[in-house]
Amino acid sequence: MAIRETWATRIGFILAAVGSAVGLGNIWRFPFLTAESGGAAFLVAYLILIVVIGLPVMLVEFVIGRRAKQNVVGAFPEIGAPTWKFIGAIGALAGFVILSYYSVVGGWVIQYIVGSVTGGYAGNAEAFFGSAAEGTNALAYDLLFMAIVAGIVSLGVRDGLERAAKVMIPSVVGLLVILAAYGATLSGASEGYAYYLSPDMSTIVGDAISLLPDAAGQAFFTLSLGMGVMITYASYLGEDRNLLHDSLLIVAVDTFVAILAGLAVFPFLFAQGVDPGAGGVGTTFVGLASAFGTLPGGQVVGFVFFSMLFLAALTSAFSILEVIVSFAIDTFDVDRRPATVAIAAVIFLVGVPTAMSLDYLTLYDAIANQILLIGGGLLLAIFGGWFFASEASDELRRGMPGGETLTTVWIWVLRVPVVLVLAYVLYNGIVAVAGIVGGM
Ligand code: PHE
Repeated sequence: MAIRETWATRIGFILAAVGSAVGLGNIWRFPFLTAESGGAAFLVAYLILIVVIGLPVMLVEFVIGRRAKQNVVGAFPEIGAPTWKFIGAIGALAGFVILSYYSVVGGWVIQYIVGSVTGGYAGNAEAFFGSAAEGTNALAYDLLFMAIVAGIVSLGVRDGLERAAKVMIPSVVGLLVILAAYGATLSGASEGYAYYLSPDMSTIVGDAISLLPDAAGQAFFTLSLGMGVMITYASYLGEDRNLLHDSLLIVAVDTFVAILAGLAVFPFLFAQGVDPGAGGVGTTFVGLASAFGTLPGGQVVGFVFFSMLFLAALTSAFSILEVIVSFAIDTFDVDRRPATVAIAAVIFLVGVPTAMSLDYLTLYDAIANQILLIGGGLLLAIFGGWFFASEASDELRRGMPGGETLTTVWIWVLRVPVVLVLAYVLYNGIVAVAGIVGGM
């Protein structure tokens, strides 16, 4: 067997993990979900879940990956838990579903890069989205996006990924700050901030429970959890890093970018009089495009912004395909290139309905986030908290000297609150998806 690669640089692991986490989830999905789900109450629920559920599950993935040094499926037998292999299988399945529509949204981003050059969306934000989002345009750009991702994965350019993340993260943050600052000068800004940032304290508890399923799905999606990305990335770790530090940093950067994206989108929605609850999956693109349409020099800023969003989407899409390809290489002893091409082709075919109709995109998104990632997270929490607790604790303490109390807290958070919340969310998700299917 070939020697397993490890990260090229000390911070390669962090860069790649942040590159996976920061993507369309932060800049596209977070603002539109927040808009749709009542604004500030959703933000509060989401922030709580990131810390209480997301962080502990991320640590489970990290300890499994670092201990096993194997792909998602192979990791479980390697650490003496072969019956739990099916967690990896669910993860790989989740990858197929997510990437199949993620690449459609990635294709929208390419169309917005082109639109920034041609001026296609200026003064025309809603119509532009309408023609970009579904149908043959969407399908063609979906294919282009998939081909680019497959190209990168088949070359196995891990260090290219590290470099891309190094450029992408500061640029995305910088541009979002500029947009947010411009948004602050608009007449709708204060209404936008009120909607986004001031939860109604009298209803927050009731709201938080009803918002739990969407907020939990978003927490998993944005942190790339529940499908083994973090298992796979931690499997390339050659040294005993302090995994708690690393996960805190990854979570902090990811959350910062999402909050910033909201600050950049909401003032524009309110300034344009767009009803935040009505736009669905198009909300963010319509909001941003109308911002670039009016901002002085907006086409140039838009071009740079969508190019960076494209990089952000690419580093995330890469991580999804890498999970599946690394599984296929380890398991079937196939070469990287043919494996990548075949898997990417299947994913593209699975995603065709989501490029042709937003209803399917919404359905796939619900299946992935409300069922597959949540189900994967629930199983990881049960496994890590109840069946693998002492090994998991040992593994976490390597690189984190003297963390006895912290590890105990971690295990108990996994055992009870994480398991209960995710079981509740999973049940809700199954009911919700059955409802969508029944209504189609
Ligand atoms: N976290 C990525 C984003 O926010 C999406 C993703 C989900 C990546 C699941 C990998 C696994 O865009």
